[in-house]
Parts: sequence; C-alpha cells; structure tokens
Amino acid sequence: MLIHAIYTLLISISFAHFNNSQPQTVITDLNTAQALGGVILAKDLPTGTAVTHLSQLQLYKLSLLNHQAGKCAGFEALSPSEANQPALAISQLLQSHQKFQTAAWLSPLAIEHNDEYQALADSSNPDLLKETVLWLSSYTSRYNKNPQPNQHVEDLKTKLSDWLQDAKWPFTIELVTHKSTQQKTLRLRILGSTHPSEIIVLGAHLDSINTSTFGGQGAAPGTDDNASGSSNLIEALKILKAVTQPKRTIEFYWYAGEESGLLGSAEIAKESKNQQRDIISVLQLDMTLYPGSGEQKIGLLTDFTSPWLRELFKMINNSYVHASFIEDTCGYGCSDHASWFRQGYHAVIPFEATLNTMNRAIHTSNDVLGPKTSFTHSNTFTKFAILYALILGNSDLRPPN
Ligand code: BES
Ligand code: ZN
Repeated sequence: MLIHAIYTLLISISFAHFNNSQPQTVITDLNTAQALGGVILAKDLPTGTAVTHLSQLQLYKLSLLNHQAGKCAGFEALSPSEANQPALAISQLLQSHQKFQTAAWLSPLAIEHNDEYQALADSSNPDLLKETVLWLSSYTSRYNKNPQPNQHVEDLKTKLSDWLQDAKWPFTIELVTHKSTQQKTLRLRILGSTHPSEIIVLGAHLDSINTSTFGGQGAAPGTDDNASGSSNLIEALKILKAVTQPKRTIEFYWYAGEESGLLGSAEIAKESKNQQRDIISVLQLDMTLYPGSGEQKIGLLTDFTSPWLRELFKMINNSYVHASFIEDTCGYGCSDHASWFRQGYHAVIPFEATLNTMNRAIHTSNDVLGPKTSFTHSNTFTKFAILYALILGNSDLRPPN
C-alpha cells in the first residue's frame, strides 16, 4: 500500500514536471504526431513528416510509442526561429526530396577500380578499432546535459592531434560551439589541394544517452551508439594520414547533442547552407557494431538520404567491399544525416542492420560489448569511410543541381 502511494506520488510529480515544462516544436512522423493529438503546424506527405507542437508529456509518450515499435525517440528539435516558420521547415524537406529524385535520374555514375585505394581499405584493423571503441565507452556518459559535457570531446581533440602529427596533408582541428547546447562538436578539416572550396563531409555523433533513467542521466557507455561510428572515422583517419593531400577539402565531424534532437549537426548544416558552402556529399556513421541481420549485411536507409549518393555507395561496395546492402527506412530523421538533408545536401547512412534487427540495448547502461557485437562487421564501415573519402575527395564527381 505504502509502496503504491509512493509510486503514485512519484508518477504525479514527474507528470507535473512534464506538464509544467515548455512545449517543444519538433519534426516527427505525421501519423505519430496525429496519434498523440499534437497540433500539426505543417506536413510533408512524400516523407510522411509533420512539424508539431508537443508538450514534454507528449514527447515522453512519443518516445514510449517508438520504443514499442522498435524505434528510438523519433523527433528532431527545431530551433526557435525555425519553430516560428513551420511551413518553411516542411517546404525545405519537400524541396530536398524533389531535388534528390531528379539528381538520381540525371547523373550517370562510373568509378574505376584503384588498387591503392583497395590496399588502404584492406589495411584497416578490427583490433585497433576495438581499442578505440573501448576507450570512448570508458567515459561513464557522453550526454550533452552532463555537468562536464566536453571532457571526452577535448580528449579526442588531443589524441587526434597527436595521432595525426605525421600526416601528409595540412589540417585544422577545432571545437565548434553551439547555441542549443553547452556540448561542442569536434571538426577536423583536411584542406583540399586543387579544389579547396569543394567539400566532402564525414560525420558521427560522439554523444551518448541513457533514456531508461529520468532526465537522460545515468551510465551511458554508448558502445554501439555511437562509439562505433565515431571510432570508424578515427581509424579511417589513421590510415588516410599516409596518403597525399586530397584535391577537395575533407571535413570530419564528431557531433554534439545528437541524442537530444540532432542539435550540433542542425546548427552546422544550417550555417553551411547560409554560407552557401559547396558541400558535395555527407556520410553519416551511427551504430556499426551489431550485425543483427548477419555479418556484412548492411542496412542502407532510403529516407532523408540521397538516391545519387546511395547509388555511388552501391558502386563502391561492388567494386571494393563486397558486403550486401538491405534498404530500409527510419521513418523520421533518426540521425545527423537528416540535418544535412533538410538543408538540401546529399547524405547517406549505411547502418549496422535492418531497423527491426538492430541492437536493442542502445540508450541503456547495457550498450556495451556482448556476444553478438562484431569488430569485423564494424570494420567494414571504416573501409567505406576510407573509400568514400578517397574517391570523392580526389574526383570531380558531383550530383547535378
Ligand atoms: N543511433 C540512434 C538511432 C538510429 C537508428 C540511427 C537507426 C540510425 C539508424 C540515434 O542516435 C538516435 O537515438 N536518434 C534519436 C533521434 C534523435 C532526433 C533524438 C531516435 O531515434 O530517437
Ligand atoms: Zn546514435
């Protein structure tokens, strides 16, 4: 009885907390927004997406609904200025969608096999990948609302600067500050030799979260989500440091606050668009360690991504990697590629498995190594990162406008 009373009290306190806190304007799945009774501010039918106004309680229900459906929280937070113009946010989505469909039809794609690229990709090492993943997972949590949200970001900056001391190309490494979170994004930029204004992006979110404890606090090793993708990029760089300076500029991002609504990448993609930066393509790596659909069976998300770039990935795979892709959808902007897609950039996200066979331990203290996690599987994503950087960084391939 007493336990029941305490339970009821706790529930009502937390509901009061939810009700008192500010509603948020978010982009999410249209059907879910309607099911929750959210006010639909604007909608995009081709992607089945809506801008809606949800209370903290509705957001909480949204995460429960999606978890039951085998998905994660499933929303992207909008900045205050975007929230004031919901129709604009949605028309951006529609524009990206139409533009990308046309690009897919208009652009013939061909790549020639390069033996040096093959040797570099094949030199990636699953044991070194494991060391890096374990190092990142050793932080109790990399949550953006921690009292010290930047310790691991600063440590990675120091380590990368050290590892890349003898790199063959000039680079800058910097912490990018954000308006929406105290956490910083880490950016490493390799300056292009002949076409420095053409930019190839690779990214992974470095933050982690524990959604099974109140407020996102609690142990969040985030081994699969997303020490794995973050480490693929680190290991790719350790190999790329031995190649000659690329023709185009290549940027690596370890984003802040993805788990709180794609916070870091949203600001960076928006700023890139405002500055009309010529970003040719964006690769996102998020969760690469759990071969839920089998070793070398890789999910390829078809929503919020570019058909042109997916096609290029299939060619890279046929020519060099020889894994198999299974196309799937998230149904919402489930990782940082969606921030870029929304600003009209061509993005791609190869993923550890299909959505219904992916790792279920993410966002808990159990996202650690286990009997099913596989570094040979994850290493395939390091290969893709290396090949993508070499091929796009040294060619004049670009999607038509
Ligand atoms: N890695 C997860 C989810 C994910 C699933 C990414 C499938 C890519 C493919 C990601 O970090 C995550 O949890 N995203 C949030 C969305 C975000 C906008 C809060 C989610 O899915 O709830
Ligand atoms: Zn993730």
